[in-house]
Amino acid sequence: MRVASKIVADILNELRTMIQPGITTYELDKFASNEAKKRNSKCAFLGYHNYPSSLCCSLNDQVVHGIPTKTPLVQGDIISLDFGIYFDDFFGDAAATFPVGEISKSADALLKVTEQSLQAGISMAYPGNRLGDVSFAVQSYVEDKGYSVVRDFVGHGIGRNLHEDPQVPNYGQSGKGVVLKPGMVLAIEPMINEKSHEVKVLKDKWTVVTCDGGLSAHFEHTVAITDKGPEILTLV
Ligand code: MF3
Ligand code: CO
Repeated sequence: MRVASKIVADILNELRTMIQPGITTYELDKFASNEAKKRNSKCAFLGYHNYPSSLCCSLNDQVVHGIPTKTPLVQGDIISLDFGIYFDDFFGDAAATFPVGEISKSADALLKVTEQSLQAGISMAYPGNRLGDVSFAVQSYVEDKGYSVVRDFVGHGIGRNLHEDPQVPNYGQSGKGVVLKPGMVLAIEPMINEKSHEVKVLKDKWTVVTCDGGLSAHFEHTVAITDKGPEILTLV
């Protein structure tokens, strides 16, 4: 899982450097798929429940599962890239939201809160803690700052399958849920909205958007629970 996750992190890091006004998410998707091939690995999302692409590219008010398009990104956009790899029988999964050129102060604040909420969750991923400690850490960080947590989509266990038990909600109660043990690996992935938490799925059956048109951001890491604490596998 360390190897699969490192491939995800490296490719996401290269994608990050390509993001600028004028590039299309179609081009980013082709790049990611090509890089996966070079590393003898498979894109985890392509064909998953018939998902049509390798990358999920969610723009502005899109929350998750946006399908790559040939529409160029423009200055001021925020773009969430979510990518998964299958290598040597194991999966890795990560996401991040990036600014396109200069973005508004409010958009920048949303990105920072979302990334920090992921760190708040990870910081609770110790053996002996419960899953609810992770969920509550994310939720309280976000809500204290006046943002809202998407409830209809959650993180997940990950291993020989992309999605395994347990589900990892970004809201919940401390002290509740399964006890974390060394060897468990979780994909923790807060999806955070500027305004209401309510989301809906578009007619393409994939793209999830905010109901009120507010911005949404998404950060995800694949995190192993070790006896020393959390080990983030999707770091460069
Ligand atoms: N990273 C997302 C997840 O954890 C994306 C997978 S959905 C897919 O569920 F269909 F695009 F694969
Ligand atoms: Co995931």
